[in-house]
Amino acid sequence: MKQDQAYRLRELHQRINNMKQGRETKVVSITSGKGGVGKSNFAINFALALVEAGQKVVLIDLDIGMANLEILLGMNVKDHLIDMVRHKKNIWDVLEKGPNGLELISGGSGFEEILDLSEHDTNYLFTELGRLDGYADIILFDTGAGLSKESQRCHLAADEIILVTTPEPTAITDAYSVVKILNHQDSNLQVRLVVNRVQNSKEGIAIANRVRMVTKQFLAKEIDVLGFLPNDSIVFQSVLEQSPFYLKYPKSQPAKWMKDMVNIYLNVDNNRSNITGIKGFINKLSQFVKK
Ligand SMILES: Nc1ncnc2c1ncn2[C@@H]1O[C@H](COP(=O)(O)OP(=O)(O)OP(=O)(O)O)[C@@H](O)[C@H]1O
Ligand SMILES: [Mg+2]
Repeated sequence: MKQDQAYRLRELHQRINNMKQGRETKVVSITSGKGGVGKSNFAINFALALVEAGQKVVLIDLDIGMANLEILLGMNVKDHLIDMVRHKKNIWDVLEKGPNGLELISGGSGFEEILDLSEHDTNYLFTELGRLDGYADIILFDTGAGLSKESQRCHLAADEIILVTTPEPTAITDAYSVVKILNHQDSNLQVRLVVNRVQNSKEGIAIANRVRMVTKQFLAKEIDVLGFLPNDSIVFQSVLEQSPFYLKYPKSQPAKWMKDMVNIYLNVDNNRSNITGIKGFINKLSQFVKK
C-alpha cells in the first residue's frame, strides 16, 4: 500500500475512534520572551511524555527558517509545511513519523512565506490543517523566541499558551512582556508557565510566584503554573546526541519531572470545556488574515 493511502486509512480510523470517544483536538502554542530558554527541548519531551500517557500528539515546528525540532529528534524531514502549500501536497505528506508514535510537521525554512500567501493558498493551508481535527488529541506548536507578527497570531488563535522562562531576570522580564502584549489583544487567553533550568523546586515555586504576582498586579491577569524542569547537563547531552532525554534518559531528573508535570496536566489541569480546537484555531487565524 502506498504511504499516502496508509496515512489516509489511519486518519479515518483515528477520527472514527476519537469521534466515538467525543475527543476534541486541543491546540497549544509554546512561547517565550527571551530566546534559548529551552522551548524546543520542552516541546519535544513534553510531547513524548504526553504520547506515553496515551495522547495522540502532532508537534508543529513554526520556528522560521530553523529546523530545530528535526535536529533535536535526529530526524531527516523530506517535506515541510511550506512545500505542502507550494506543491499542493496534502497534510499527510508532511506529517512525519517520529519516535514512539509522536508525529512532526516541520515548517521548513522560508516559513514566513506562508504568511504572505494568496487567499487561495491560505485557504489551502487552512483546509489541510483542518484535516487534523479529531486526528490528534493535542497539536503543539513550537515557535521562535519573542513575538513575531506570525507567532503572535498563532498564540492568539490557540486554546492555550505555554510560556517558558528560566530564573534569569532578563528571561522573566521578557516573559512578562509577552503576557502583556498578548493579554492586551485578548484578555481571556489561557497562559501556563513553565520555569526551566531551576536548581530545585523551591526556586521554581519562587520564580513562578514572582511572575504570577506581577502579571496579577500590573495586568490583572491570572496565569497558571504548569511546572518546572531542573537545570541538568543531561539536557545538553541529549541535544548533542540528537536524542530526547525523555527517551534516552528516562530515569534522569528532567525526565521524571516531565512525567509528573504531564500527569498533573492531564489529570488535574486538563480543562477541555473551553477549547475551540483546530476549527476555532483556523477561524481565528482567518480573521487575522482578513484584517
Ligand atoms: N533544563 C535544562 N538544563 C540544562 N540545559 C538546558 C535545559 N533546557 C535547555 N537547556 C540548554 O539550552 C539550549 C537551548 O534550548 P532550546 O533550543 O530548547 O531553547 P529555545 O527556547 O527553543 O531556543 P530558541 O529561542 O532559539 O528557539 C539547549 O541546547 C540546552 O543546551
Ligand atoms: Mg527553539
